[in-house]
Amino acid sequence: MTTPTIELKPSSHPLADEERERILANPGFGRHFTDHMVTIKWTEGRGWHDAQLVPYAPLSLDPANMTLHYAQTIFEGLKAYRQPDGGVATFRPEQNAERFRASARRMGMPELPVETFIAACDALVTQDKAWVPGSGEESLYLRPFMFATEVGLGVRPANEYLFVVIASPAGAYFPGGVKPVSVWLSEEYVRAAPGGTGAAKTGGNYAASLVAQAQAAEQGCDQVVWLDAIERRWIEEMGGMNLYFVYGNRIVTPELSGSLLPGITRASLLRIAADLGYEVSEGRISVDDWRQGNADGSLTEVFACGTAAVITPVGSVKSARASWTVADGRPGEVTMKLRKALLDIQTGAAPDTHGWMHRL
Ligand code: PLP
Ligand code: COI
Repeated sequence: MTTPTIELKPSSHPLADEERERILANPGFGRHFTDHMVTIKWTEGRGWHDAQLVPYAPLSLDPANMTLHYAQTIFEGLKAYRQPDGGVATFRPEQNAERFRASARRMGMPELPVETFIAACDALVTQDKAWVPGSGEESLYLRPFMFATEVGLGVRPANEYLFVVIASPAGAYFPGGVKPVSVWLSEEYVRAAPGGTGAAKTGGNYAASLVAQAQAAEQGCDQVVWLDAIERRWIEEMGGMNLYFVYGNRIVTPELSGSLLPGITRASLLRIAADLGYEVSEGRISVDDWRQGNADGSLTEVFACGTAAVITPVGSVKSARASWTVADGRPGEVTMKLRKALLDIQTGAAPDTHGWMHRL
């Protein structure tokens, strides 16, 4: 299929420069949105059509909109970074586009062509370029998503969908700098089971995680760590991040079990860590391995990684049965080295040797 042309309809009421600058001085995460959005419709028998770049505005929904009832909805998250020459580049958008297609397949939704996904992101970033923060690790976070727009209460894949891209300037996901997070091992609740939707980026996975996130907060922890659904023993991932375990020069990340999200940051770090000379692998790590490695000193660092959170050290662990500090509880050397290497590529401070940056 051909990529629909994205017709530009610039906002007649963009935010005043001073107001935008005020927001960019302290953007937070996901609190402010740029002046525009891209929308593309899909209808059974017609395919993708009516691609538009329009002013950011509320969507109007029928109360019987199928997504509100049966949650056929998927999303992505990727970032645009200001480059040293003042230009802008996104990080591996084709990977997000591919994962979006995989999520769509799992959820019985139509697959948006990779080039349309990228063209939509490019159109929005180009139009709202002034919203890309000026420097450092601050970025413009892009949130492409798709949901069923058909009206009706029959339980089946919908025959109409809307794809939308919105953008939000992003500072640190965890305010307060690179501060280790505390994690709660969720043994009561599970996020995803074999054959379920865990590897898809679909809203229901996040909805299912919230009660455990609230439990983590009650326990004084920042984030939940999910275990496998069958044995409740193998480490899977966190609510919005993958995990890495550092044993000196050896680095291991939980293998893609089918019930955790195949993170793009995770995949990129497999390459970056190898480039930096670490011995890196994917494997199975149990709660006991974590506790034991911590006790005997072989496990030197643990960190979480993802688009929004970049790389965040894990400082302490708590479960219903035990709690422990990860190594000395401070950001580890390997964690910080990998964090810098990744951000240097994204911000153009280091050469893009893997061809990951997509210049606009
Ligand atoms: N795991 C979950 C559940 C996520 O929501 C995310 C964020 O997108 C990740 C992992 C990390 O994925 P990525 O590095 O592609 O952002
Ligand atoms: C991301 O890192 O893009 C995420 O989706 C994590 C979270 C904000 C849901």
